[in-house]
Amino acid sequence: MAVSREAVVRALRKITHPEREKDIIRLDMVKDLTIEDQRVHFTVVVKDPDGAFANQVQEACRRILHEEVSRDLEVDVELDSEMIPLGDELSVSDPSGEKQQVSGEDGVQNTIAVASGKGGVGKSTVAVNLAMALADDGYNVALVDTDIYGPSVPKMLGMEGEKPRVNDERKIVPLEKHGIKVLSMGFMVDPDKAVVWRGPMVTKAVQQFLGDVDWGDIEYMILDLPPGTGDVQLTIVQTIPLTGAVIVSTPQDLALADARKGKAMFDNVNVPVVGMVENMSYFTPPDQPDRKYYLFGRNGAQELARELDVPFLGQVPIEQKVRESGDSGHPLVRSHPDSLSATAFREIGDELVEQVALRNAETDPTQKVEILYE
Ligand SMILES: Nc1ncnc2c1ncn2[C@@H]1O[C@H](COP(=O)(O)OP(=O)(O)OP(=O)(O)O)[C@@H](O)[C@H]1O
Ligand SMILES: [Mg+2]
Repeated sequence: MAVSREAVVRALRKITHPEREKDIIRLDMVKDLTIEDQRVHFTVVVKDPDGAFANQVQEACRRILHEEVSRDLEVDVELDSEMIPLGDELSVSDPSGEKQQVSGEDGVQNTIAVASGKGGVGKSTVAVNLAMALADDGYNVALVDTDIYGPSVPKMLGMEGEKPRVNDERKIVPLEKHGIKVLSMGFMVDPDKAVVWRGPMVTKAVQQFLGDVDWGDIEYMILDLPPGTGDVQLTIVQTIPLTGAVIVSTPQDLALADARKGKAMFDNVNVPVVGMVENMSYFTPPDQPDRKYYLFGRNGAQELARELDVPFLGQVPIEQKVRESGDSGHPLVRSHPDSLSATAFREIGDELVEQVALRNAETDPTQKVEILYE
């Protein structure tokens, strides 16, 4: 049986860079991963491929893969020198096709859009709690609310009425809350006025909004998209260079049909769907912890993920606390860390990290982001 890519990445995550104190997958040091039957090939990017450290990493990779995956594995580890500083490849296209830097020198490593075809399935809830779960895991996280017509992040994080400031270099300084950096269209434009905007105006607003921000060092930028797969969503996903997309759906047929459209939209712009999340999967009454009631159908999104060959990241149950936490500005992962849904969000976060690592390990960094904006 062929070795699973997930198993390889999971094992390599156990190798920590001694100075940077993070694992080699997280540091984006593993590239060009290919697996054929019992043979694993990849490149580790280091400062000095001839140095002692490079040899140690190479040896550690072989050892951990033999121990954790299979003794019979043929492990072929190449070494290469670090060419591209982290984050260099992130840029936003402006209408002339010129790329602008999104970030300062520090850079944004991964950008993940949270999308759905259908409205109200829980995109914003997933985006906010996923951001919190990743931050709790020690990642530097930014959350960007691109929903110009109905921004919900300010309310969900208790930041209504706040405005980011502009620094001496005329860059927007993102706000910080609950340990993450936050920007919302809701801080910049009045949603009542934006309702009449057409696609090009939205694109322009998104570009201005993201083009000149002092992000600092960000490992995961989570973008909450407006519902649907129309022009507005398309222009946003083409404007922002994306590492990948997460599609949220309920198990309901209607939502699933729209999730399919979401996948097709990302396929069209060559953005890989790094995972599907099933929200409102089941209801467990607090006084019957062993019961699961499948109110919207059973495992629909999980099955769709399999059919579309998209990684399934996990199920989030329906819980009153989820809604209450969203309404009160105290995200669930922080306010009820022991709840079923908070546990689900943490597992989904972990799964996402793995899928993004896989994608980054398999993709040439220069092709990390494809921009088709004309
Ligand atoms: N797992 C859940 N359990 C209970 N309530 C939930 C759950 N997920 C989302 N909700 C609630 O459902 C409503 C819609 O969620 P949310 O705003 O996250 O959806 P959305 O997909 O972002 O919506 P829109 O399409 O309008 O942007 C909110 O009131 C939210 O609190
Ligand atoms: Mg929303």
